[in-house]
Amino acid sequence: MCLSVKSPSLSKIIADEIAQQGPMPFARFMELALYHSDLGYYASGQAAIGRKGDFYTNVSVGSAFGHVLAGQFAEMWERLGSPAEFTIVEQGAHDGQLASDILIHAEGPFAAALRYRIVEPSPHLRRRQEETLQPFASRVEWFADLESLPKFQGVHFSNELVDALPFHIIESQGDTGWKELFVSGTEEGFSFIPAEFSAELGSTTSSLPVRPAGHLLELRPMAAEWLDAVEERLTAGFVLIVDYGYPRDLLRAVHRTRGTFACFRQHRRDENLLETPGEKDITSHVDFTDLAEAATRLNLALEGFADQNHFMVGAGEPLLKSLEGRIHEPEARKTLRMMQTLLHPESMGTQFHYLALSKNAEGSTLRGFRYGRDAGVLVA
Ligand SMILES: C[S@@+](CC[C@H](N)C(=O)[O-])C[C@H]1O[C@@H](n2cnc3c(N)ncnc32)[C@H](O)[C@@H]1O
Repeated sequence: MCLSVKSPSLSKIIADEIAQQGPMPFARFMELALYHSDLGYYASGQAAIGRKGDFYTNVSVGSAFGHVLAGQFAEMWERLGSPAEFTIVEQGAHDGQLASDILIHAEGPFAAALRYRIVEPSPHLRRRQEETLQPFASRVEWFADLESLPKFQGVHFSNELVDALPFHIIESQGDTGWKELFVSGTEEGFSFIPAEFSAELGSTTSSLPVRPAGHLLELRPMAAEWLDAVEERLTAGFVLIVDYGYPRDLLRAVHRTRGTFACFRQHRRDENLLETPGEKDITSHVDFTDLAEAATRLNLALEGFADQNHFMVGAGEPLLKSLEGRIHEPEARKTLRMMQTLLHPESMGTQFHYLALSKNAEGSTLRGFRYGRDAGVLVA
């Protein structure tokens, strides 16, 4: 006789932890909802990105994104003195499509120097990446976390990784300051309860603005910890962070009374953070000031800060020039359409920002930041 044992739902796993340990910070709820090894939205491999999935990213627009990045990475390699070995570390590589686009478009001596390393804790996602990257099998290696990644010279790159790192939520109590929202409840349903800040929030709470009661803000101390771990592995080179988000003063503007968090499923956005954990994406905008301040503490140089429109005009110049006079060719028209989508000043072009940091890599401004802002504005 074959007995089928029903595995517990993610809601039950979360409810059991609350029953044993008390209400949890929202960051812990999000960690389980996205990264529980079997049932988390990302870790289980059920996250779907693209037209038939839950949301779009730069990668879903097409290969032009990887093409432009390959050119920008080649310039970084040159700035390091064209070393014989240059490593691209990608974290948050999803199905490996971007890695493939970059490897296809890397050319000449840069391509010969290139090795690609992916940091991927999820075995499901790693299998998908291995399939996509089969043609480059000899040049790609995987590591489960930053701690096991060997020290490297090159660039650490991430597209929409930081927005997917767990965040805490705090709520203004008006004149009496702020409280953190903790998650309480049972398998039947969860709710938020305000309480004193958890220890993980540490110094992130030192300069909170005064806001009317009920105003919500997200805090993501994990972003600085993550950058610390990246810097520790990098011997010389760059960190390039691409994500949606803003400098802190814009994120904390008085009119953003509900913070910036959102959930996505089948291209529908909702704000019901505590419903159906594991079945949808959870995200919030990135505080680029947070990252720049952490970089300054770590002695990483602030190389540049640009929105996607300005980054693409600078870094994409060689690609755009190569299309001149070829617009009758279907391939060239397709590439131009991709670039127009990435550059669009009313959507992707302004929502996404690029922050570049460097270590032991002095030199002139990188192409992608030629038309950008001085990254110093983030910490001024
Ligand atoms: C919003 S998705 C972006 C995926 C892809 N970069 C793209 O742009 O299509 C966020 C990705 O970050 C990954 N991620 C989150 N934390 C991670 C970590 N500590 N190490 C590696 N990947 C991580 C998730 O598994 C997920 O694949």
